[in-house]
Amino acid sequence: MAVREIVLLGDPVLRRKAEEVTSFDARLQELVRDMFETMYHAEGIGLAAPQIGIPERVLVVDLRREDEPEARVALVNPRVVWSSDVTDRAPEGCLSIPGLEEVVERPEAVHVEGFDPEGAPVRIEADELFARALQHEIDHLDGILFIDRVSPLKRRMLMKKWKKLQAEAK
Ligand code: CO
Repeated sequence: MAVREIVLLGDPVLRRKAEEVTSFDARLQELVRDMFETMYHAEGIGLAAPQIGIPERVLVVDLRREDEPEARVALVNPRVVWSSDVTDRAPEGCLSIPGLEEVVERPEAVHVEGFDPEGAPVRIEADELFARALQHEIDHLDGILFIDRVSPLKRRMLMKKWKKLQAEAK
C-alpha cells in the first residue's frame, strides 16, 4: 500500500472524463487500497481516482467518523440512477483544491449503482452527507469540480482566493 500524491486544480487530469474500468483485477484492488490510504492520510472523506492522476472511474468514500457507520464504500463505474427533487445546501471542500470551501446545492438523496472492487454489483441509497459525498466524487469522474456548481460570482471569488493561496505557497 502507498500514499499517492494528490493532484491539484490546474492539472488537466481533473478535467478529463475518466474511463470505465474493464478489469476487476489485482491492480484495481491495489488502486482502491492506495486511494483509501491516501484519503485517510489527507484526512478527507472522499477521493476519486483522477485526484491521484488515474483517469479511471473509481471512487472511495468513508464517513464513519461522521456518524455514518455504513458509509465506507469503494465504487467502480458508479452512476447516479435516481436523485431527489429536494435539494439541500451545505459547504464543500476538495482535497484537490485545499483551502477553498463554498456552499453547494445538490439533490438531498441519490441512488447509485456500480460495482465493488471485486466486480460484484452494488446499489446504494444515500442521503444527506453520504449522498453529497457520492455526488461530489462522481462529478470528479466526469471532470466536474465543486467550484463549477456555484454561481459565477462565487466562482470568481474562489478562483481569486486560489491564485492568492498558490502564490503564497511558492
Ligand atoms: Co473533490
